[in-house]
Amino acid sequence: MPLRRRLLALVALVLALCLIGGGVLTYWHGLRKIDLEMSSAMEVASSAVSDALATITSSADASAQAQRIISSFDGDRHIVASLVGPGGSLESTSRLQKPADPPPHWLYGLLAGAPRSRTFAFPADAKSLGAIEIHADPHNEVSEVWEDLKLKFLIVSSFCAIVLALIYATVGRALRPLEQLSSALERVGDGDYTAHVAEAGPEDLKPIYRAFNQMAERLRTAEQHNQRLNEQLSTVQEEERSEISRDLHDEIGPFLFAADVDAQAIPLLVSRDASSEIVERSKAIRQSVQHMQVHLRGILSRLRPTLLIDQGLIIAVEQLVAFWKARRPNIVFTMDIEDARFPAGIEEAAFRILQEGTSNAVRHGQPSAIGLTARQAPDDMLRVVVSDDGSGIVAKGTRGFGLAGMRERVALLNGRLRIADREGGKGVMLIVEIPLPSARSKKDNPQALTTSAA
Ligand SMILES: Nc1ncnc2c1ncn2[C@@H]1O[C@H](COP(=O)(O)OP(=O)(O)OP(=O)(O)O)[C@@H](O)[C@H]1O
Ligand SMILES: [Mg+2]
Repeated sequence: MPLRRRLLALVALVLALCLIGGGVLTYWHGLRKIDLEMSSAMEVASSAVSDALATITSSADASAQAQRIISSFDGDRHIVASLVGPGGSLESTSRLQKPADPPPHWLYGLLAGAPRSRTFAFPADAKSLGAIEIHADPHNEVSEVWEDLKLKFLIVSSFCAIVLALIYATVGRALRPLEQLSSALERVGDGDYTAHVAEAGPEDLKPIYRAFNQMAERLRTAEQHNQRLNEQLSTVQEEERSEISRDLHDEIGPFLFAADVDAQAIPLLVSRDASSEIVERSKAIRQSVQHMQVHLRGILSRLRPTLLIDQGLIIAVEQLVAFWKARRPNIVFTMDIEDARFPAGIEEAAFRILQEGTSNAVRHGQPSAIGLTARQAPDDMLRVVVSDDGSGIVAKGTRGFGLAGMRERVALLNGRLRIADREGGKGVMLIVEIPLPSARSKKDNPQALTTSAA
């Protein structure tokens, strides 16, 4: 059952119980009131009839006097007086005042109580007239209670109706944002993170709406982040592919062609017995092959850098520097790399940091010199540093992925990363410290370190 209906049902139940309680109280009060009224009416009527009978004389108009006693009760609200003949026949009876709003029979039956009546005999000298009988008639009293009940019922039911209408409207208004929230949650579930809920309504619900909006905002940012990452990835992949195809075309193609030309010339030279030229041609073919091998290694290292790292950090960093030197001949690169082997995960992290650090320095700093260091410090830390003399960090708070990725890598290895403008000089200094599992290098005991890295 919806919350609004449940609340209304609960309040309606409480009000109905109050109504029933009020009805019972009114009934009880009415019962007592009728009993009292009827008793006192009987008392008053009894003494009036007794007094009147005492004045009756055995004169000729005793019958007229008896009639006067009966008619003195005409229009009474509670008492009916009757003249009963000596044989028990009803001679005359007074008229009871008619109630303005006659009560229903069921209520009369509930409130009337036991019948009350009294009979007064005429004095001995007027005995022939019979007797006067009075009895209490509670119709008028019950009618009063009935009117009272109707009024109270009208007041209480109007009050209930107003209270229920107010609760309906207030709860409806208070819950409207919750309905918005549930439809917004559905939208988020369907992947629409632009969903927003107005932070209106009761104070206690506002923190929920605020938290929802923050969550949707974060999800939206994360989605945009992912989108950018995907776009960047495909752009980088695209660039890499076109660069590799250019390299294959420009660097490998001509040497393949040259080697082919040289190889084709050899049979001719053999037939001419020109052995010195054959030697020259074979040297040229070897040079072409060596050239192609160097380029092929460069391409491979870009396709599978881990293959390169497997050969050791020094070789990988040399390749990295060669890659950038070929593209930025004006930059002076200096390397200070530990000639030792570290666990594979640490070597890869160190290489990636040097790679991204160098790429950042070239892309953002326009430096004239870049220094790459990976040294084991005395405190069993591998210290990886990339420093440049470029512009320094200009666009603070730029949302790239390089630094974030580096931080994640370093955190996974329980290391520390700091990046800042160089003190007292131009450029940027990126310092990463990664704890080493032991002071021993792989050089001393390569097998042991490979095992510990796994
Ligand atoms: N050596 C540096 N010289 C100058 N600015 C730098 C240097 N290194 C980083 N920065 C600044 O720090 C920002 C964040 O670098 P980060 O590598 O995280 O992102 P990016 O290089 O802009 O993009 P991405 O690496 O995702 O392609 C850069 O945009 C740049 O402004
Ligand atoms: Mg970067």
